[in-house]
Amino acid sequence: MLQAYRRCLVNQSLNSSSSVSPLKSLYYISNYQIDHPRHESTLASRGAGHIVRKGTGGRSSVSGIVSTVFGATGFLGRYVVQQLAKMGSQVLVPFRGSEDSPRHLKLMGDLGQIVPMKYNPRDENSVKAVMAKANVVINLIGREYETRNYSFEEVHHAMAEQIAVLAREHGGIARLVQLSCLGASSSSPSRMLRAKAAGEESVLREFPEATIMKPAVLIGTEDRILNRWAHFAKKWSFLPLIGDGSTKIQPVYVVDVAAAVVTSLKDDGTSKGKIYELGGPDVFTIHELAELMYDTIREWPRYVKIPFPIAKALASPRDFLLNKVPVPLPTPQIFNLDEINALTVDTLVSPTALTFDDLGLVPHQLKGYPIEFLMSYRKGGPGFGTTVSEKVTGNEFE
Ligand SMILES: NC(=O)c1ccc[n+]([C@@H]2O[C@H](COP(=O)([O-])OP(=O)(O)OC[C@H]3O[C@@H](n4cnc5c(N)ncnc54)[C@H](OP(=O)(O)O)[C@@H]3O)[C@@H](O)[C@H]2O)c1
Repeated sequence: MLQAYRRCLVNQSLNSSSSVSPLKSLYYISNYQIDHPRHESTLASRGAGHIVRKGTGGRSSVSGIVSTVFGATGFLGRYVVQQLAKMGSQVLVPFRGSEDSPRHLKLMGDLGQIVPMKYNPRDENSVKAVMAKANVVINLIGREYETRNYSFEEVHHAMAEQIAVLAREHGGIARLVQLSCLGASSSSPSRMLRAKAAGEESVLREFPEATIMKPAVLIGTEDRILNRWAHFAKKWSFLPLIGDGSTKIQPVYVVDVAAAVVTSLKDDGTSKGKIYELGGPDVFTIHELAELMYDTIREWPRYVKIPFPIAKALASPRDFLLNKVPVPLPTPQIFNLDEINALTVDTLVSPTALTFDDLGLVPHQLKGYPIEFLMSYRKGGPGFGTTVSEKVTGNEFE
């Protein structure tokens, strides 16, 4: 009875903030949303009602974000889910494959915060169902090769458009983030990048407050460039260098891109309707990046230069046969025709684009921790050998 009376007294007093201070000495009263504006949600709502935010910002807090992350089972997805979950967001994870595909994500949040939901991307009602409870939608769906079932146009354009249309009709989606690719443009030599550009256009038309992120090639533990190269180099003792290896790219650490996605959700709405180009701090030629890979796996670099016409000829049969034979074809690895086409031009962040800097983030250099995972390819174990740069320390010159 006495306790109920005390609670009532506290509630009444909280309503008039001037009387909070004397009560603080008697009871523990959280300062949340009273005199700490930084704990208030900055997620501008769009018909979603009040977004409640509680706690100090850790994994057991309530960030107010209930997000549906399409494509969460992929490479970037695990880092986006991890960063959302660690600040106390609820993450709905649509998945289409086995029940095991979202399993690794479950531990990233508090109990019940990560909710895998089986869905069918071709069934509108199923897509609506996984978005029903959300106030944020993030679309990470993508694939760098076509299959007999899914074309680039369906995955990168039609699916993105459908998500944007349903987010608009939902009425309660405060933020939509669409992942595109650096270099996506209607004039790109790559069909995937042309489909991505069409996807961006449709998303902004259907949901003008969407934020588009265009990352460069992603680097990290599960990446599909350095891992693929290292694997090939170990197996065949050489690396094919498509073109002459002089194409310039601006690879970026996957964790930085996930941070950009999550940071854009927390701003005051300035990133709404904007397009960000996310490249790493350094520009590499393909050859320089391959040198970095060889240096880290501590193998002697051996290259076979493959001119573009020959690389395209080697990669073409898969694309030619894709819809002509009644069986699934192997997943393309190094010789992916569309990627080879993309490599015929440099892919760099444009000097006028919005970047990490505009989100208040500084991307990591690749040399160092972001590529340390390559240690597992060293032939004598992770501690095998040293590189010249590691041998020469400042002490030698003293
Ligand atoms: N990786 C890069 O270097 C890179 C660079 C620039 C931009 N991006 C873009 O960033 C986003 C995330 O990339 P990522 O590397 O994390 O991709 P990823 O590892 O290939 O994962 C892609 C996700 O999309 C889903 N997906 C693929 N095809 C689908 C389909 N037909 N229907 C429904 N879901 C489908 C996958 O689901 P399943 O698990 O069921 O297959 C997976 O969850 C993509 O939009 C990609 O284009 C990636």
